[in-house]
Amino acid sequence: MNAPLAEEFLTLQEIVAAARRNLAPGPWSYLIGGAETETTVRRNRMALDSIAFRPRVLRDVSRIDCSGSFLGKRMRLPVMLAPIGGLESIVEGGAAAAARGAAQFGVPQMLSSVCKPGLEATAAAAETVRVFQLYVRGDDAWVDDHVKRARDHGYTAFCLTVDVAMYSRRERDLIGRFVKPWRATAPAGSNYQSGLSWDQVKRYKDKFGDKHGLPLIIKGIATAEDAAIAAQHGVEAVYVSNHGGRQLDHGLGSMTALPQVVAAVAGRAEVWVDGGFMRGTDVVKALALGARTVGLGRLPCLGLGAAGVPGLVRALEILEDEIRTCLGLLGVTSFAELTPQHVTAAPPVSEPGVFSAFPLLGESPGDQ
Ligand SMILES: Cc1cc2nc3c(=O)[nH]c(=O)nc-3n(C[C@H](O)[C@H](O)[C@H](O)COP(=O)(O)O)c2cc1C
Repeated sequence: MNAPLAEEFLTLQEIVAAARRNLAPGPWSYLIGGAETETTVRRNRMALDSIAFRPRVLRDVSRIDCSGSFLGKRMRLPVMLAPIGGLESIVEGGAAAAARGAAQFGVPQMLSSVCKPGLEATAAAAETVRVFQLYVRGDDAWVDDHVKRARDHGYTAFCLTVDVAMYSRRERDLIGRFVKPWRATAPAGSNYQSGLSWDQVKRYKDKFGDKHGLPLIIKGIATAEDAAIAAQHGVEAVYVSNHGGRQLDHGLGSMTALPQVVAAVAGRAEVWVDGGFMRGTDVVKALALGARTVGLGRLPCLGLGAAGVPGLVRALEILEDEIRTCLGLLGVTSFAELTPQHVTAAPPVSEPGVFSAFPLLGESPGDQ
């Protein structure tokens, strides 16, 4: 246990409240915001909140194993830090701080190509399982250079985010006139991202698909059709995501899309998911419905914003406690025992929103 923060933060709600107090308005809106009406943001929570548990009892849950498997490696939890582009706006050290937190706790980190301090310095910051996520801003040679650099610096997989053919309209940022540091300095070349097609996925697999290459993850899949195409291309993980509701507005919640993706992939690749995951119960729901790994986007940022690296570690500790409690109360001793029969559809009980997982927030001192 992380002694000082274990007393300061007993709940994730307190971590969120502390991050709210610490972060300036620009970075705060950047972190929590979504595209246009933020309907997709809310649907992510709505989809999670529309699932209830079917617990089984009298099954000896005196010992519970919360670990997960990530591309064949055992991890303390079946979660990873999802790629975040502007971490340096949220915590000093940016992605290097996130890497240290991930390593200290024992979960993988996916590094965004537009996050400071970059591929090499983040790798040097901590020894952890890491994946490199690329926004394509150049030609094939440019992409290949990033694959080689990632491989040379101990990244165990490579990820292409594919839900960013256009950069969306994030109205909180627009109204607040907040320009992300990475967008101010990013090299031109977003036309390469808009021009991507399955041809580039095929090219990657042909060139880097052997044992000297890196497994490929496609992040931003939202339909069974695209999941099937990704699996046909031999990708190692199909990552169900709508970018935390920050790209296409009026999409489905990720957890609504997950079951159809799992069915379409049919065991040919791992299925990962993110979007609105804030609680241990959320993670358990995803694993029950066939996801192997859950990406956490805003939650780790809130931990970092609350108290830096120890804040991130503390958020993950609380998440682990919530997961252990949930598994035990469901009557299972590990994720391997979870099945779709442990969950069922149910009407949500609260208005969905980016913070609807934290209903007491408005009641904590210092909240807004
Ligand atoms: C502040 C912020 C920056 C993000 N930057 C990236 C990025 O650079 N690359 C990427 O693939 N996804 C990015 N995402 C999306 C996340 O990787 C993830 O898909 C999403 O946050 C999951 O939803 P959640 O925040 O509700 O957990 C970003 C999300 C946030 C909140």
